[in-house]
Amino acid sequence: YDFNLKKENNHLIIGNIDANELAEKYKTPLYVIDEEKVRNNYNKLYTAFNSKYEDLHMCYAAKANTNLAVMKILEDEGSYIDAVSPGEIYTALLAGFTPERIVFTGNNVTNEELEYAHKTGVTINLDSISALERLSTIEGTKGKEISIRVNPMVEAGHHEHCITGGPKSKFGIKEEEAVEVYQKAIDLGFKPIGMHSHIGSEILESEPFMLAVETMMDIAGKVHKEVGVDFKFLDFGGGFGIPYEPTENELDLETFTTDIIKLFKSKLEEYDMGKPAMYIEPGRFLVGNAEVLLTRVNTIKESYRKFAGVDCGFGTLLRPTMYGSYHHIVVANKINEENVEEIDIAGNLCESGDLFARDRPMPKLEEGDLLAILNAGAYAYSMASQYNSRPRPAEVLVNKDEVDVIRRREEFSDLFNGQKIPTRLLK
Ligand code: LLP
Repeated sequence: YDFNLKKENNHLIIGNIDANELAEKYKTPLYVIDEEKVRNNYNKLYTAFNSKYEDLHMCYAAKANTNLAVMKILEDEGSYIDAVSPGEIYTALLAGFTPERIVFTGNNVTNEELEYAHKTGVTINLDSISALERLSTIEGTKGKEISIRVNPMVEAGHHEHCITGGPKSKFGIKEEEAVEVYQKAIDLGFKPIGMHSHIGSEILESEPFMLAVETMMDIAGKVHKEVGVDFKFLDFGGGFGIPYEPTENELDLETFTTDIIKLFKSKLEEYDMGKPAMYIEPGRFLVGNAEVLLTRVNTIKESYRKFAGVDCGFGTLLRPTMYGSYHHIVVANKINEENVEEIDIAGNLCESGDLFARDRPMPKLEEGDLLAILNAGAYAYSMASQYNSRPRPAEVLVNKDEVDVIRRREEFSDLFNGQKIPTRLLK
């Protein structure tokens, strides 16, 4: 996989703009997101599913990238939202999504959070019997339409931390108790209209997804038959992967969607469930490859190993440190040069685990080179922190020839937001 990079005069081009100019003008580290790519990703995935099953809602998993401008672009494309917290509901509303276009799937939610979700009018997808019972105690929830998350005992994902189905997962209710829980929902006065599952993230083959769809459809079919629930929607979660390593391939969307929709339709028929909407919740697929992180090499060091030290660290991009994830790295000011050495690309934080790559084949690196860390659109800025008192970087949006700052670079003063020294300590 070659990451479809645009190159001109040995430079990396984003939209129609030279990455080196962006770095000069807006300084580094800098997140750069390409609007066209977000729109293309959305349309590619939407069309692949929608051409085979019309009543499809694509709920963008906002957690992947909550930048308001990014949310607005997806709003404009017609997306729905998968929100996991009141903060994400708030963000989605601010970006212009109407409550009807937001599904809230919380985990270990408090009564206050349930109340907030209820008041905003979004669809609530419940993760436990406890949440179901507690929601029923909130005023005005009688007769409310709700959805329930089941754990279909299918495990998938690129790292243990991201596997959300199966026996060890904290999410959803057990599949064996689904009939009982839906009955309970009705007894509590709710109108269950949805079922949800999400098995994991960064899935590049169709098998686990097919297995999850099959399992969830059998559970939904049983609930339909035994409890009489008429599902308005069935939500199969997200997890659609993207290639991070040159050796990986893109998801074969045509085969993938053909197989899934075929299975979905046959199960609907088997259980006589009519034509409910199909929901999916892609996060990474929509934004992952649309953004790069530009960071400048400031130190070349040969100690026991050879290091290229850059001007950001795992506070800016956590995935390599947290999951050991591979992110492809190119040199934006000499993009055509061949790899000649293996080198560690190290961040600027005070921990040995602060590495973007170990023994990475790279062109000859020099101080001042501009690195572009690819696939930094999903779970990158949204997982960033100020650890080591490093203000977070700026983020710019490129649309062909246009550039907009969509998040200003933080300053030292942002490190102290909301903090206060008690006056008694100032005496
Ligand atoms: N729906 C639910 C209920 C989820 O929990 C998630 C992701 C998604 C949808 C979207 O999954 P996606 O399509 O993006 O794979 N920080 C990790 C990924 C954590 C995913 C958490 N849940 C990473 O950097 O790989």
